[in-house]
Amino acid sequence: MHGEWLDIGPVDQIAPGNARTLPVRGGEEIAIFHTLDNRFHALVNKCPHKQGPLSQGIVHGGVVTCPLHNWNISLKTGEAQGESADERGACVPVIPLKVDAGRIYLLRSAVLGQKAA
Ligand code: FES
Repeated sequence: MHGEWLDIGPVDQIAPGNARTLPVRGGEEIAIFHTLDNRFHALVNKCPHKQGPLSQGIVHGGVVTCPLHNWNISLKTGEAQGESADERGACVPVIPLKVDAGRIYLLRSAVLGQKAA
């Protein structure tokens, strides 16, 4: 049985302020973030700058700071927040996510859409 949403497990697998990664066979790794104000977001685990692993960054407010060169990436939109010419318009794909009855779900088509073209 395949629904529209992919169940990736209980919310308590990720502590607030942390992230975990979800490998996608043949595609991009996905990073799932739990913010300190108890929201969940999923992004492709590659900084739009030089592909730093965003899952290893610091989560604060609604952004993650990339561990490589400290760009701040919006967890909601995937957009770099800085004003430099490089940062303006830089964006990483966001994967639609929902929480239902204590479990995290990702939009299946968006996850599969990350498979290598
Ligand atoms: S790779 Fe993320 S800021 Fe450079």
